Amino acid sequence: MEAGILTLDDFKVGGKTVIVRVDINSPIDRETGGLVNDNRIRKSLPTITELADAGAKVVLLAHQGDTEDYHNLISLEQHAARLADLLARPVGFIDDIAGPAAVAAVKALKAGELLLLNNVRYYTEEVSTFVNFVKLTPDQLAKTRLVRNLAPLADLFVNEAFAAAHRYSPSLVGFAEVLPTAAGRLFIEEFRALARVKETPSHPCVYVLGGSRIADAFSMMQQVLSEGAADKVLTCGLNGEVMVLARGTALGAPSERLIEEKGLTPYIQKAKELDAAFGEKIISPVDFAIDDGGRVELDLGGLPSDHLLVDIGTQTIARYEQVIAQAATIFVNGPAGIYEQPASAEGTRRLWNAVADAPGYSVIGGGDSVAAGAKFGVLERMGYVCTSGGGMVRFLSGQELPVVTALRRAADRSVAV
Ligand code: 3PG
Repeated sequence: MEAGILTLDDFKVGGKTVIVRVDINSPIDRETGGLVNDNRIRKSLPTITELADAGAKVVLLAHQGDTEDYHNLISLEQHAARLADLLARPVGFIDDIAGPAAVAAVKALKAGELLLLNNVRYYTEEVSTFVNFVKLTPDQLAKTRLVRNLAPLADLFVNEAFAAAHRYSPSLVGFAEVLPTAAGRLFIEEFRALARVKETPSHPCVYVLGGSRIADAFSMMQQVLSEGAADKVLTCGLNGEVMVLARGTALGAPSERLIEEKGLTPYIQKAKELDAAFGEKIISPVDFAIDDGGRVELDLGGLPSDHLLVDIGTQTIARYEQVIAQAATIFVNGPAGIYEQPASAEGTRRLWNAVADAPGYSVIGGGDSVAAGAKFGVLERMGYVCTSGGGMVRFLSGQELPVVTALRRAADRSVAV
């Protein structure tokens, strides 16, 4: 038991049928339809291996993409093949989720065998529950097709999908209502890393918040500063630009137009409120870079610029590096600039290296941030690399994660088997 949640240490699984909800939702190549990377698949291997080695009959449930915009909503067949390659053991796949074919395949499993069912988001009930904010009662969850058909076949449910922990849907919270339930190894690892930067950070604790998802950055900033988890927030990316604008420096037409086009204008007022509440705990850039046929730097006196701001400048980078080097805890989310292009990669490359070199405990999360870390070859030197994006942001913003609540409720109810 950890943080009120049962773990695999609380259960014996040999000979049992175990449903494992993994998050192997992966980026998909538009042209080929193939997996762009198998990061999340790899991260779920330890729990799957542990269960199979212990003689469990392992039934894997997962989603890919979503029906809201039909983005990446594809079959999990290639995920099964990749799992089999990485595990070096067969992984069955069936193009069914909870129909008669799936039920028969689950019943036919033998100890140590693995089966991946198809994309749970092919079921309306799986998506409408979070897209339309329909909150089913525990009784209704137990009656969804997925839970009603599969739960009676299983002895244990394992939730390994921290990255989807913010979704209140049958595959994520329904089984915990009717089956003994444990969190998987990755789930606990990720939960522990995020709790360490939010609830029990060693101080000084620094959050580096960049990127263009201002709503996420601001809600995390508000939460971690008001609860005293963070001592300083280093702003960069579009987040830093909005702070600079709110503090009275015009950026120039191209950058201000971008902020408007992205619907971020209301955040200028919000930034003023954060500034009034937390003042010098929120650090904003003192210079920027533009791409004028190559990198050119401007300090705040050189603004407004008729070029788009594409990165933080070297004075800002140097200041941030110093703060990062002295921090005992560092959390990073959102790149400092357009790191994909040479003229604007400097800020992200140097800050990410500073985090990797810092003696403090570091956590990095979010798709772009992790991709930048991989590009600059620093991920191995970070304290913890999160697989989650939305779940992580909500956790750090102090919002309830439905999957954590479900796991705790199951632990309260359950007697370890
Ligand atoms: C993710 O990619 O962040 C998780 O798989 C959750 O996906 P979702 O945001 O579509 O629920």
